Amino acid sequence: MSGTFLVSVIALLSCYSVQAQNVTTPDPEGCIDPTAFVTCLSTANTTAIECANQPNATVTACEVQSLVDEMLCYYSSCWNKVYTCAYQYITSEYLLAIDRDHIQSAPFYPAPANSPDSCSCNLGNSLINATKNHDTLYTCWGMSNETLAHECQCCVYSAAVSASYGICPGTEKDILGVPTLVEEGQANIAANGSCDALTYDVCYGQFGIPTADNGTYVDVNNLPPNQTQTLSNTPGTSSLTSPPGGETMTVTFLNKTYTVTAAPYQANGTAASTAPATSTPTGAAMRIYPEGFLGSISTALIIAFLLL
Ligand SMILES: *[C@@H]1O[C@H](CO)[C@@H](O)[C@H](O)[C@H]1NC(C)=O
Ligand SMILES: *[C@@H]1O[C@H](CO)[C@@H](O)[C@H](O)[C@H]1NC(C)=O
Ligand SMILES: *[C@@H]1O[C@H](CO)[C@@H](O)[C@H](O)[C@H]1NC(C)=O
Ligand SMILES: *[C@@H]1O[C@H](CO)[C@@H](O)[C@H](O)[C@H]1NC(C)=O
Ligand SMILES: *[C@@H]1O[C@H](CO)[C@@H](O)[C@H](O)[C@H]1NC(C)=O
Ligand SMILES: *[C@@H]1O[C@H](CO)[C@@H](O)[C@H](O)[C@H]1NC(C)=O
Ligand SMILES: *[C@@H]1O[C@H](CO)[C@@H](O)[C@H](O)[C@H]1NC(C)=O
Ligand SMILES: *[C@@H]1O[C@H](CO)[C@@H](O)[C@H](O)[C@H]1NC(C)=O
Ligand SMILES: *[C@@H]1O[C@H](CO)[C@@H](O)[C@H](O)[C@H]1NC(C)=O
Ligand SMILES: *[C@@H]1O[C@H](CO)[C@@H](O)[C@H](O)[C@H]1NC(C)=O
Repeated sequence: MSGTFLVSVIALLSCYSVQAQNVTTPDPEGCIDPTAFVTCLSTANTTAIECANQPNATVTACEVQSLVDEMLCYYSSCWNKVYTCAYQYITSEYLLAIDRDHIQSAPFYPAPANSPDSCSCNLGNSLINATKNHDTLYTCWGMSNETLAHECQCCVYSAAVSASYGICPGTEKDILGVPTLVEEGQANIAANGSCDALTYDVCYGQFGIPTADNGTYVDVNNLPPNQTQTLSNTPGTSSLTSPPGGETMTVTFLNKTYTVTAAPYQANGTAASTAPATSTPTGAAMRIYPEGFLGSISTALIIAFLLL
């Protein structure tokens, strides 16, 4: 059964470069070494499916490793695209999966202002701002005055959601867990009444909770309309011509250290040779069972489970 599935996955993979691309999905087009990138991604995909086939595997652990493997593919053969929506999205998913509450750091994340080939919405800034605001919840819950605790909670959810409205105005909000945040906010707020004090004076003046939305605190029960623009990549004035992490990059994910060799740059935008850019894991293996957050990182992995 799983053999049949693998065959169909490989068949699908061969269509990889001609499929209409979702902007949050890695795209080999324009990569330093597109061929190596496709190979690297398909290896990651196969590894993920093999992982899911282990009797004691968890879907989430396999998914998270798969995200890491995709990030590594960028460092080796698509390092000129690390500020695009796809890399930033994958990295966000990874960071949310390993620790939803306290965002960790990851290479090239968030994209600095005006980076070449960057995403129309700075997903990293939005997620980091939302997460940091959300952290303040525990301060609110520690307040002994229940009225104040509730107002504080209102401000926290508002500021966390406002991050996405302020940093990515007009952009569709069905990304990076914004709906989850809204839902959680609505439920927690409803448990103690409503929010009627979402002003700068209250939220910032009284509780010190800033908003990324130009002084506005969005009401999670009355969200601004017209957030419909899809994400896109903006080429910018210049592209990266040298690997942002250096020719050789050492990076640690999930307690495993990887050494990645970046494919060399050629002025015509293709790799100098087909010499494989590699990533070599060293160090101890590990297991993680992080909390699920985004729901469906990879349908294929879930299908792999169902087919077992
Ligand atoms: C593996 O490849 C299949 C077919 O292209 C795709 O649908 C699936 O999302 C991929 N899975 C991962 C983890 O990349
Ligand atoms: C694009 O991909 C994201 C996650 O990979 C998914 O949530 C979304 O539904 C996809 N959009 C389309 C139009 O396929
Ligand atoms: C799965 O089980 C095998 C042996 O039963 C063990 O060696 C391996 O570490 C386990 N893997 C995980 C992820 O628990
Ligand atoms: C709680 O705070 C509110 C607003 O500052 C105040 O009116 C109220 O008296 C306080 N309640 C208690 C029990 O201290
Ligand atoms: C919300 O209400 C619940 C139950 O009435 C109470 O235990 C909790 O402390 C309240 N939380 C806040 C932030 O007011
Ligand atoms: C969120 O962004 C706003 C605007 O840049 C900033 O003032 C605020 O400090 C940020 N919040 C956190 C918690 O980092
Ligand atoms: C921010 O608020 C100020 C004052 O209300 C307004 O003049 C300005 O246009 C706003 N900026 C943005 C980007 O919305
Ligand atoms: C939202 O879109 C509708 C229909 O296009 C338009 O009438 C309305 O003015 C827009 N609202 C805002 C706040 O931009
Ligand atoms: C990484 O190693 C540390 C120290 O051994 C351990 O506490 C932690 O749980 C490990 N993290 C993961 C994701 O395995
Ligand atoms: C780019 O340059 C390399 C090395 O000079 C060459 O092999 C390759 O054919 C060129 N590709 C294009 C698309 O011009």
